[in-house]
Amino acid sequence: MKILIVGSGGREHAIAWKIAQSPLAEKIYCAPGNAGIEEYAECVNIGAMEFEKLVAFAKEKEIDLTVIGMDDPLVGGVVDAFEAAGLRVFGPRKNAAILEGSKAFSKELMKKYHIPTAAYETFDDPAKALAYLETAKMPIVLKADGLALGKGVLICQNLEEARAGVKEIMEDKKFGSAGNQMVIEEFMTGREVSVLSFVDGKTIKIMTSAQDHKRAGDGDTGLNTGGMGTFSPSPFYTPQVDAFCKQYIYQATVDAMAKEGRPFKGIIFFGLMLTEEGPKVLEYNARFGDPETQVVLPRMKNDIVEVFEACIDGTLDQIDLQFEDNAAVCVVMASQGYPVKYEKGFAIKGLEQFKDKEGYYVFHAGTKKAEAGIVTNGGRVLGVTAKGENLKAARANAYEAVKWIAFENAFYRHDIGKAIDEV
Ligand code: AMP
Ligand code: GLY
Repeated sequence: MKILIVGSGGREHAIAWKIAQSPLAEKIYCAPGNAGIEEYAECVNIGAMEFEKLVAFAKEKEIDLTVIGMDDPLVGGVVDAFEAAGLRVFGPRKNAAILEGSKAFSKELMKKYHIPTAAYETFDDPAKALAYLETAKMPIVLKADGLALGKGVLICQNLEEARAGVKEIMEDKKFGSAGNQMVIEEFMTGREVSVLSFVDGKTIKIMTSAQDHKRAGDGDTGLNTGGMGTFSPSPFYTPQVDAFCKQYIYQATVDAMAKEGRPFKGIIFFGLMLTEEGPKVLEYNARFGDPETQVVLPRMKNDIVEVFEACIDGTLDQIDLQFEDNAAVCVVMASQGYPVKYEKGFAIKGLEQFKDKEGYYVFHAGTKKAEAGIVTNGGRVLGVTAKGENLKAARANAYEAVKWIAFENAFYRHDIGKAIDEV
């Protein structure tokens, strides 16, 4: 098969690596890709939002399967564009990707189908939002309705902060049109767990659990980022939690989408919070997580191309999804100053150390090929992943492997997976 991947981050590198393991994959392309993905795929210079060009490329190269990694093209309808051209594509259509694309939609869906989530109200008028805040309990959470690069969520400690937040989102339009509507919801406390799943419209198969670290600094300090590291599985995702989610959340979400005439095919990423009242949905994403994918896929036993095909064909019930009985940790190496301002173009040393080392992976996020070799080209530069027989071993291995890499202005968190010491 000829396979095209759309995206350019560490997640897409992990997807490309996994697809390359499949005997079904004869030739892999990636648009636009990055310097690491080039090891497995021919990278083509087409942006993820250039639907017409992507479709034309897929037709010209007679691509058998296209896999969409990123949220923006999914929410924008890239799957519909491929299907309209008679091409096979893995991912939700626009009318289902709204599960991630609109928080107002996803909250309404959960309310209607009794899926556990934080209590909330939706507003399209800032005056009404402000009036609501007067009697609301603090802290409180404000969410821009649409996609905002993972930054459209504000946790406000008091009324003053919340008023300023409404102004930022709805009046100053800090997140653009994503702030035309907003959700105000109850603040929850508890452990967060990420659960990715494959869905074929009716059947859902859950992958192994993971946990992200969103803040830039050690000890969960500093600004929110796209994710500074992950571990898998989460020891907090117990069999009890799994049983609860299977009964009240996973299949319920898939059935709800089908009932709404929006059958979901692709990946549903459940962002869960394990509250004292039980697990609740923080958010849905309509794609693989980044950097969750970098710890989940190295542990997956199945041929991922077969699973993608089963999702498209509606035969996922016949797939026995299996994960290795071990653990993985991913430490993101970033550019000093990320997520605000950082320099690019520094040479990266040590990448060759990962070659042929079983259980060690260096997934590229912001990298580029230059004359002098591979250089930094983004805020998150690399995701260094290592497996181990348990979380502690995986963590030790990942931090050992981080030492193999060097580039100017590099920084990373030193406490990825530290929470596991508490169990
Ligand atoms: P979201 O994009 O909705 O996942 O929100 C980003 C992050 O904000 C989550 O990973 C949580 O850490 C936090 N968050 C979102 N909603 C809530 C909530 N209702 N209570 C507490 N924290 C929240
Ligand atoms: N790691 C969080 C996300 O992919 O949205």
